Amino acid sequence: MGDSQVCGSIGVFDSGVGGISVLQALVRELPCESFLYYGDSAHAPYGEKTTEEVLELSRGIVAKLLEAGCKAIVIACNTATSAAGEQLRLEHPNIPIIGVEPALKPAVLATRDGDVLVMATPMTVRLEKFQRLMDEWGSKARVHAVPCEGLAARIEQGRLGDADLTELIDSLVGRYANRVDSVVLGCTHYPFVVNQIKAVLGEVPFFDGGEGTARQLRRRLVECELLNPNEHEGGVQFFSSKATSAELALYERFFNYGAGGVSNF
Ligand code: DGL
Repeated sequence: MGDSQVCGSIGVFDSGVGGISVLQALVRELPCESFLYYGDSAHAPYGEKTTEEVLELSRGIVAKLLEAGCKAIVIACNTATSAAGEQLRLEHPNIPIIGVEPALKPAVLATRDGDVLVMATPMTVRLEKFQRLMDEWGSKARVHAVPCEGLAARIEQGRLGDADLTELIDSLVGRYANRVDSVVLGCTHYPFVVNQIKAVLGEVPFFDGGEGTARQLRRRLVECELLNPNEHEGGVQFFSSKATSAELALYERFFNYGAGGVSNF
């Protein structure tokens, strides 16, 4: 494998700010890699579009990231992984493409016969990929899958400490308050509001796909001999289809803030 490839960046994308929760896990796992993050905030939310629209948008972003010299791609979006993951791998067989999926397996294994609430976008819940996960794990616990219309779009706006956000969460899942044993955050936007979700549902274990995706990326880079051997920090660059300095500043704030933060973000 040539040096230029090994030293290439890892392209990470999402419909907007959500994938930054995955990016944080990627940087923790692989601090010596450099990352290009692309948020498609101009077209968010993906979860309320058609599958074809999300496939087309994802295709365009992957083309841009490859043009920028990325050696691997992380689809840091459950919705885009469901709508486009398999197709993108067919179209780019020589590039490692890693997706995310709702962490139903670890939640079911940890919960055993209990009640598991899955929060995800309407598209993620509807598509076959999630149905396959349900076929595999859905009989081992009582799984309640709730399409959370509007939640990713609201998180895109920031202002995570405002009351209307908690009210929205309450209207979506408040009926499960103190009735579930664990919660799967099946959209990469949601880890940023885990405290607000806890305020509605109570203190139960939460599961998201960030850490698993980071480990999978490491495995694939090793397998493809693409792991960067450098020992200094690689760094992160942010790009957005809403190409304003305010939007990029918002991305930086999400990245630095840490998942789960509230206050007056
Ligand atoms: N962050 C995305 C996900 O994991 C998509 C949210 C959206 O744009 O609807 O599903």
